Amino acid sequence: MEHLLTKISCNTPELKEKALDELKNVCLQCKACELCKTRTSVVFSDGNPNAKIILIGEAPGADEDATGTPFVGRAGQLLNTFLTEAGFDRQKDFYICNTIKCRPPQNRVPTNEEKLACQSYLMGQISIVKPKIILLCGATAAHSFIEQDFKISQIRGKWLNIFDDIEVMPIFHPSYLLRNHSLEQGSPRWLMKKDLENVKNKLNELL
Ligand code: URA
Repeated sequence: MEHLLTKISCNTPELKEKALDELKNVCLQCKACELCKTRTSVVFSDGNPNAKIILIGEAPGADEDATGTPFVGRAGQLLNTFLTEAGFDRQKDFYICNTIKCRPPQNRVPTNEEKLACQSYLMGQISIVKPKIILLCGATAAHSFIEQDFKISQIRGKWLNIFDDIEVMPIFHPSYLLRNHSLEQGSPRWLMKKDLENVKNKLNELL
C-alpha cells in the first residue's frame, strides 16, 4: 500500500490546506464513475487538515449528499457521541473522509470500480495530511486497505502494519452500532468505546 502514497512535502499548515484545496477542486469536477450522474454533492472531507488522525468511512449517505459534509446524519451523530465520550474533539482531532466521495443510489455498498475510481483522491488525502493514525471505519474502508478476507469483528481494535510510520486500526461503523444498542461488556458499543480509548492512548504515546 505504501506505494500508493505520493511523497508530498507540505511543510506548513498553509501548504497542506492549499494542496488539499487543489485536490478537492479536482474531485468536485470528477466524472470518473457513474455516481457523478446521481450525486448532489461531492463529499470531500470534514475536520482538521493538520489533525494526527484520519477517520475513513464508507460513502456519503442522503444527509451527507445534501450537505456536502461527511458523517452528519444519524450514523455521524452517533460517531460524534463516541468521539466526545473518548475525550476527542471531532473538528480539531480528526480529518474525516470516505472511501468514495459520491453517494451510491439507495446507499448500496460501493462497487470495486467506484472504489478504484476514487482511490487517488483518498490516497492523495492521506499523502497530504500525513496522519500518525488512520481509523478504518467499517468493512468497506477496511477492505480497501486489507487484501485478505476478514470479518470486521475479527480485526477491529487491532493495530495493522499497512503503511510505514502510520498506525492503522479498523473500527466498527456507527451504522452497525445504530442497530446494536447494548452497552454490556463485549457488545459492539462496548468494544467501540474500548477501541477509541486505545486510540487516545496511542495518540498520546505518539505526540
Ligand atoms: N456513512 C459513511 O460511511 N460515511 C458518511 O459520511 C456517512 C455515513
